[in-house]
Amino acid sequence: MFRVEEIHTQVTDKIVSQGVSELVRIYPLDDIDETGLPETWNFNGTCMPKIYANRAKEYANFKVREDDIWVVTYPKCGTTWTQEMTWMIVNDMDFNKSNSKDITERIIFFELNGMVELESWDAFKALEEQKSPRVIKTHLPISLLPRDIWKKKCKIIYVTRDPKDVVVSFFHHFIGMTPYTGTIEEFIEGFLTDQFIYCSFWYHVLEFWMIRKSENVLFITFEDMKKDLRTVIDKTCLFLEKKYKEEEISKLIDHLSFEKMKANPTCNNQGLVKCLYGILEREYKDETAFQFMRKGKVGGYKKELSLDYVQKINLKTREIFLPHGLNLYCR
Ligand code: A3P
Repeated sequence: MFRVEEIHTQVTDKIVSQGVSELVRIYPLDDIDETGLPETWNFNGTCMPKIYANRAKEYANFKVREDDIWVVTYPKCGTTWTQEMTWMIVNDMDFNKSNSKDITERIIFFELNGMVELESWDAFKALEEQKSPRVIKTHLPISLLPRDIWKKKCKIIYVTRDPKDVVVSFFHHFIGMTPYTGTIEEFIEGFLTDQFIYCSFWYHVLEFWMIRKSENVLFITFEDMKKDLRTVIDKTCLFLEKKYKEEEISKLIDHLSFEKMKANPTCNNQGLVKCLYGILEREYKDETAFQFMRKGKVGGYKKELSLDYVQKINLKTREIFLPHGLNLYCR
């Protein structure tokens, strides 16, 4: 079903020497039907941890429920934000439950066991125990997702973000939540040459953009959510066939604001950060710990990326997106 290639480059060998898992590139070998992509579409390989490769087939063969709702993103594109919005819309705006149960329990991270070794928790078991309709989080690209999604036409909400902000956010995530100790320049080189997990960012986005008009796909952007969250909520409600009163929507907009989500212990992922600090044997102190809800801005990269890297990322974006008519994030 898949071909797995080991990756040994200066970039990946250095990451591995810092204690981050070994990486491989995974290519699908067979045709994947009914995705909405052109039949002749050639999938690029996806960079994943070696442990994922051992389970790739299991993930691709996972049996979904028809009414599952999949929140799919490349990491750092606003996954948590979109998850919370989606969960609230699906669950009749149940603020009580949202405020009492952590987002990681309400929405299962589908491939987590393929990314890190976890002995005491199994995503498949957690998913089995959830009532329908389930909202499921994944960062998998089309080529690695359960094939059953395309057969059963599950709803997919895909969110993307400017790669310049993504790379900066991802770098801070790596420094804060993994053993990685490289510089931002090294990180960008790795991202640009598709040598970090879930890379390529560009093909991840492009493929979902190409199927954006499918009935079961809603394609949104972090920038649109920042600019006009109301409109994105309205679109999502329509997509999920839900209707809410004006005051409920206003309450949701407030609940989803950066400040509220950052302060909300069931949404801010600090529980996850704390858990990773334990694994990394770091001392967790509120004042100095990595903040998952870091800046939440559009264009924050301008303070951290050199002009040279801005140009390099824009060039790569133009080279991959423009031939397909996608003109997002090219400048
Ligand atoms: P920054 O690191 O740029 O601040 P993900 O959930 O995909 O890992 O994305 C995390 C990014 O989304 C972080 O970006 C985080 O601050 C931002 N984010 C999360 N919730 C947000 C919200 N309610 N409003 C704006 N940005 C949010």
